[in-house]
Amino acid sequence: MQTDIAKILIPATKLRARVRSLGRKITRDYAGRDLHLVTVMKGGLFFLTDLARAIERPLSLDCLGISSYAGQSHGTVRITKDLDDDIEGRHVLIVEDIIDTGLTLAYIRRQLLLRQPASLTICTLLDRPYRRIVDIDVAYVGFAIPDEFVVGYGLDWRGQYRNLPYIATLHPEVYRRE
Ligand code: IMP
Ligand code: MG
Repeated sequence: MQTDIAKILIPATKLRARVRSLGRKITRDYAGRDLHLVTVMKGGLFFLTDLARAIERPLSLDCLGISSYAGQSHGTVRITKDLDDDIEGRHVLIVEDIIDTGLTLAYIRRQLLLRQPASLTICTLLDRPYRRIVDIDVAYVGFAIPDEFVVGYGLDWRGQYRNLPYIATLHPEVYRRE
């Protein structure tokens, strides 16, 4: 609901401009190499489809489904939907929505490295560095954001708000609803 939104942090125009410029940079950096984009569902889907269209290189893409065990120790991550394609020998670019503690990406990175890609690089739309537990080398960052929970452009709160065309914070009362 529109009334649930507290503040728009990144409007659609800014998202579009930044995604285009990331696409141009990736296009340059991967000159001469075929790119394989791997996104983490479902948060990364909106970013992935826009970013893919901003990259002017031959590319393929795949999706990884993961879930974190709520209530258990931090960073207990499980693959719920594996990649369709083999990544051995390929230039893989992981496309994520947000890095918070870094535990999710550290896990994914470890798992994918076992499959021996030719290269493995990370691109995240948002970086919120305040709660970082694992240091992670991120080659491409869209925006650094303040220490607030955000929704929109793929990011959710309890499965909702992914379709907002901007990144926003929610009113505190939304989190108190059952
Ligand atoms: P990390 O493992 O702590 O880095 O958490 C990363 C994952 O948690 C992201 O891929 C998101 O799915 C989710 N997440 C973290 N912060 C937010 C947020 O502000 N809004 C929505 N999802 C978030
Ligand atoms: Mg995610």
